[in-house]
Amino acid sequence: MTTSSSRPIARELSVGEVAKRSGLAISAIHFYEAKGLITSRRNAGNQRRFHRDVLRRVAIIKVAQRTGIPLAEIRDALHTLPENKSPTLADWQRLSACWKHKLNERIERLSRLRDQLDHCIGCGCLSMDDCPLRNPRDTLSEQGPGPRLLDPD
Ligand code: FES
Repeated sequence: MTTSSSRPIARELSVGEVAKRSGLAISAIHFYEAKGLITSRRNAGNQRRFHRDVLRRVAIIKVAQRTGIPLAEIRDALHTLPENKSPTLADWQRLSACWKHKLNERIERLSRLRDQLDHCIGCGCLSMDDCPLRNPRDTLSEQGPGPRLLDPD
């Protein structure tokens, strides 16, 4: 691999290089490694060296965390990828397939929250103007606890 100035692209990166390219603090990279989300090896000088594909893993961790996905769920998904070689397209497709369902559920829940904040959510408070229409006398409580219209699961 070479850069535009044909300087060879390093296949392995130091923790500082990973932090710089990913936009994360070195402490965050150490944290992800300590939590088993990413791995490195030690070189002859006992320094950590990360395979370059760690940048893709770190990018996915960062975005997934921002959408509120718990670290343990992210780790479980990343553990479907091969350990000691760069994941192939098929590997990422497999991860994507097993995660797609959970992501769709999360998107649906976020959309409901976005769309229903100014409406009755069926929580039993009966404080909104449309509660009498959408949850007369809190009849939705018969379906179970919580905001039945916002989060029926
Ligand atoms: S918003 Fe709480 S019952 Fe309607």
